[in-house]
Amino acid sequence: MHRDSNAIQFTALDAPAGGHAPSPGGPLSPDRLAALYAYPEEHGPWMRVNFITSVDGAVAVDGRSGGLGGPGDRRVFGLLRALADVIVVGAGTVRAENYGGARIPAEDRRRRAAAGRPEIPRIAVVSATARIDPSHRLFHDTAVPPLVIVSSAADPVHVRALEEAGTEIAVLPDRPRESGAGTGAARPDVAGIAPILAGRGLTRILCEGGPNLTGRLLAAGAVDELCLTVAPVLVGGNAPRMAVGPASTPAPLTRRHLLADDHGALFTRWTVARGRDER
Ligand SMILES: NC(=O)c1ccc[n+]([C@@H]2O[C@H](COP(=O)([O-])OP(=O)(O)OC[C@H]3O[C@@H](n4cnc5c(N)ncnc54)[C@H](OP(=O)(O)O)[C@@H]3O)[C@@H](O)[C@H]2O)c1
Repeated sequence: MHRDSNAIQFTALDAPAGGHAPSPGGPLSPDRLAALYAYPEEHGPWMRVNFITSVDGAVAVDGRSGGLGGPGDRRVFGLLRALADVIVVGAGTVRAENYGGARIPAEDRRRRAAAGRPEIPRIAVVSATARIDPSHRLFHDTAVPPLVIVSSAADPVHVRALEEAGTEIAVLPDRPRESGAGTGAARPDVAGIAPILAGRGLTRILCEGGPNLTGRLLAAGAVDELCLTVAPVLVGGNAPRMAVGPASTPAPLTRRHLLADDHGALFTRWTVARGRDER
């Protein structure tokens, strides 16, 4: 049975010192829940990453994340979208999950408009190659045209096809070559995503994965925050972790809150510790 995700009860389990965390134990009102996920004020672009995993770390069941989500995660997923200016997603996830435009409830749209913000967050797809079919649902099942962020080495034929379909394209800068790195193809610098978005006035960034894009963002030091839902399930199999890449790139985190819903899921929020003002 599909339950109304607004009826889900969230409880705070942990209140680490020095943060804006809730007192443990009590149920959270919708406003309190929203306040716990508010973006930090007076900051530059802020890259929040949101994932759901099984207890054994799988990000998908049979190639899609939908098998992991319960009503509490749907609620937090929707809340994070309603708080964001822009939703960044890798082309692999767009293909796997058949992404369309974001849908925001009328009350949140009104709240956003009253704050002088667009009613609906834009989707920004990151693709090195630009190999995204212009007839994909992303381009027609949406109230806001998406932005496609490509590398300088993207196939010009694919870029043109997207532009002819009316899609705005932004190009990532190339990563500086290390000395002695040879003359191979230039590699895109995903640290350029946030400045591209900030240049369009989009500073509250929500990245919805997937693992390859998140791994690149992590390696580039471009992640500010992680919101992680742990679904009460074991999956096994060979699904990836939430961030993958060619090398390990440890990033110490500070825990901001730990919540539970009444279906056994856990909701954690962490910020990357780098000596800046972190909420
Ligand atoms: N559990 C969750 O919360 C969650 C969230 C998201 C996704 N997922 C799952 O994760 C899987 C998809 O993840 P994925 O890792 O395959 O895909 P992904 O990270 O969404 O996208 C990978 C694509 O991003 C582009 N890309 C990667 N690095 C880049 C760079 N440095 N510069 C420019 N573009 C770059 C490339 O696009 P092109 O190939 O177009 O060049 C690449 O193929 C699916 O099974 C999905 O269900 C789960």
